[in-house]
Amino acid sequence: MAQRKQLWHGRFDTGPAAELVAFTESLSYDSRLVFDDIHCSRAHVRGLGRGGILSDEEVGAVLAALDSVAEEFAEDRFEFEASDEDIHTAIERRVTEIAGEPGTKLHTGRSRNDQVATAFRWFVLRELRVVAEAALELATTLAERADDAGVGEGGVYLPGYTHLQHAQPVMLAHHLMAHAWAVLRDVDRIWDTRRRMDVSPLGAGALAGSSLPLDPDGTATDIGFGERFENSLDATSDRDFVAESLAVLAIIGVHLSRMGEEIVLWSTDEFGFIRLDDAYATGSSMLPQKKNPDIAELARGKAGRLIGNLAGLLATMKSLPLAYNRDLQEDKEPLFDSLDTVRLGLAALTGVYRTMSINADRMRAAADSPYASATDLAEFLVVKGMGFRDAHAVVGALVRESLDQGVPLIDLVEVNEHLGAEAAVLLQPGVAVTRRTTPGGAGPLPVAEQRKRLAERLAGESQRWRAVTAE
Ligand code: ARG
Repeated sequence: MAQRKQLWHGRFDTGPAAELVAFTESLSYDSRLVFDDIHCSRAHVRGLGRGGILSDEEVGAVLAALDSVAEEFAEDRFEFEASDEDIHTAIERRVTEIAGEPGTKLHTGRSRNDQVATAFRWFVLRELRVVAEAALELATTLAERADDAGVGEGGVYLPGYTHLQHAQPVMLAHHLMAHAWAVLRDVDRIWDTRRRMDVSPLGAGALAGSSLPLDPDGTATDIGFGERFENSLDATSDRDFVAESLAVLAIIGVHLSRMGEEIVLWSTDEFGFIRLDDAYATGSSMLPQKKNPDIAELARGKAGRLIGNLAGLLATMKSLPLAYNRDLQEDKEPLFDSLDTVRLGLAALTGVYRTMSINADRMRAAADSPYASATDLAEFLVVKGMGFRDAHAVVGALVRESLDQGVPLIDLVEVNEHLGAEAAVLLQPGVAVTRRTTPGGAGPLPVAEQRKRLAERLAGESQRWRAVTAE
């Protein structure tokens, strides 16, 4: 069988070497852009019609051929040829086979450089929205689990840690909502990233635009972009929208890794704060008693890949001269990988949080060490008029004495000249957590208020994303 020709065969005597094809192809992964390319190509064809470059009949014929190609892909019966380098050339080749002569006009005034940049932007805009929705699910689940734990007086509390050492008791709801706020910032970052990316490069051509009467404003609107490019060199060669997406996804990955690490710790026998649902834990092939937190571990581990994808793309982009260089083809695989990893990770962790059971007794018992109330004792002295440094020293000395001599702290507090029985009450189980009253703080009063504010933020985010989904 005669070898099919590349779409750019005109000035070449021979066909491409097998090694060239093998090394430079992108079809094996960019097929994922098929419907985005077809969507953008439709707008391009209609633009060519408005410019009088294609007649109405030609526009009709090419649009019909694009529809057929979309159907072939949807029904999984599209046949690739060896000459198809990427999804864009495959679609154009097939459109020409179906539409004949008018099909040869599809690529008029267009280069793969603006074509790829356009289809890829359109793809990323949508996929980031999917990630935002998954992130909102996680934030919502965290808020619901905060409700289960109790957001007011009587709610579950546990030790708050700094340096992974007991610091002060905090409401469990407070702890869970800390993660929810971080995830909401991620969602907000996705919003900002999408806003900057919402620009159509179509019409920029290979690098400089065209002599033909193209309509980049019209095609931008037709596709659904907010605006068209301002500079054709920039439009075809910049991938900061990919780098920014990878950065946002890496930050989400880092947030997920922190939650993962915590779930790993909390589910150990030593902590015993939570128990994972069977459906969200794994067994060991050798040790029958094991129940492993693999989702949490991979949420932790996959952050490495997400960070690597960002670092890799930045290295590819670094020092590239204007305008398009084939290096830029390397933008897709890392982003596909990061999008999939984050979307699946968000869903998996949402499931873990939704189904895990909480051992409130273990949490409370761990938090009820009298030493966790040391700051309350110091603050008691401050209210009585002592300077904080002095108060800190008085309580510090008592703690040391208690530890050194094995005497319960409460006994020393009761007989201390500055403290006494009134202060000893602060060491009773469950008292310390109620004393954190600062707005945004960890006690039941501010936590109940925080839960309301979180509900408002969640509702606001959901609402603005619903508008995008409806587009
Ligand atoms: N598959 C390529 C990419 O994704 C297509 C661009 C090829 N352009 C070119 N001028 N050779 O970047």
